[in-house]
Amino acid sequence: MDTAEARVIAQGFDPNRLSADFYENPYDIYAALRTHEPVHRCPDGSYFLSRFADLDEIYRDRTHFSSDKKAVFGPKFGPDSPLYEHHTTSLVFNDPPYHTRVRRQIVAALSPNALRALEPGVTALVDRLLEQLEERQRFDLIADFAAAIPVEVIGNLLRVPREDRGPLRAWSLAILGALETELTVEQRARGNTAVVEFTAYLRGLIAERRRHALGATDLLTRLLQEAELTESELLQNCVFLLNAGHETTTNLIGNGLYLLLNHAESGDRLRSDPQLIATAVEECLRLESPNQLGNRLVSQPVTVGGVVLEPDTYLTLCIGAANRDGQEFPDPERFDIARRPNRHLAFAAGAHACAGMGVARLEAQVALLRTVQRLPGLRLAGGGTRARRARFRGFLALPAELS
Ligand code: HEM
Repeated sequence: MDTAEARVIAQGFDPNRLSADFYENPYDIYAALRTHEPVHRCPDGSYFLSRFADLDEIYRDRTHFSSDKKAVFGPKFGPDSPLYEHHTTSLVFNDPPYHTRVRRQIVAALSPNALRALEPGVTALVDRLLEQLEERQRFDLIADFAAAIPVEVIGNLLRVPREDRGPLRAWSLAILGALETELTVEQRARGNTAVVEFTAYLRGLIAERRRHALGATDLLTRLLQEAELTESELLQNCVFLLNAGHETTTNLIGNGLYLLLNHAESGDRLRSDPQLIATAVEECLRLESPNQLGNRLVSQPVTVGGVVLEPDTYLTLCIGAANRDGQEFPDPERFDIARRPNRHLAFAAGAHACAGMGVARLEAQVALLRTVQRLPGLRLAGGGTRARRARFRGFLALPAELS
């Protein structure tokens, strides 16, 4: 696209009216926005930001920006809806002191020691799944592999009985799907039903855990015992944790496999130098960020990129665009599994930075490295099917085969 065309596209960009092509490849439009309209005023009066430096600053600034979304989710979901109760009660869409209280327990439960203890289980699970793939020869890398890992790990962290985990993925997709920029009546209905069913299930689990909590150190028990939460706060934060730990990590593993299989030389390099797995996962997070969009509300007058923003202005922070900003990342479109430094914003930054990033990294490192090592003949079998989502980037299906 030439400069004049890019400028027109950037000026006319409306995140509430996205084309089918956008979901396949949003990056050309993001590049146009970064260059011509880095602080872009959308038709609904909100702003869409795409430069790394602006996002990095906003994520770290609690004085001028708020995570509290009640004013936004009221009109979007209806103030009496289950979706409203869920999204306005989970820690991610709140400010201190409530946010700090809940976050403290989660961070404590996901300490480096806790992560180390998870690793053997993750490795055994990944190896078991890879053996099943070897037996089948043709399979879907999402349903048969990527999606099976996070549900197990986050299920274990909260000690959700294995036989109850079946509906978790569908609930999670429906609840997080309701955060999309464009929302249909059906999506909203599915999201509301999922919140009702999910919380009804958790109510039973929490009652059970209260009866048998002695000595338990799982995440659910910690929140139950130490965070002084009301019943609704406890339920909605558990729903959030199960969701947050789930679809995003599935997408990281799926996107990572897609990148490695489409860049065979990177797969070969990783196979011969497994130490590269840590930087390889960071590069997958940067180039195909599973969570592409974040939001903040302006709480104090502030100027960003030369634009004056008044209180109550709603901001969409485009992580997917910031992570390909040439001002921060040399040769930003290149997939470089040894890239250093790589200060990407895939987990955001500041006080709300992803509390589960250690868990996500562990899962992805084990899953990608073991796959590359154990299945050298792995090939994609046709194109994948992308979810029609702007916020969460990943595949619904990714058919593959062994040659
Ligand atoms: C690749 C996988 C993941 C990605 C890309 C991701 C991304 C993010 C991002 C961007 C945020 C900040 C949201 C905001 O403030 O606007 C966030 C918050 C959060 N994430 Fe993750 N996440 C991932 C996996 C996980 C996992 C595995 C867990 C739990 C085990 C988790 C738990 C959380 C929690 C609790 C928060 C809220 C933190 C707070 O508000 O203080 N995430 N995540």
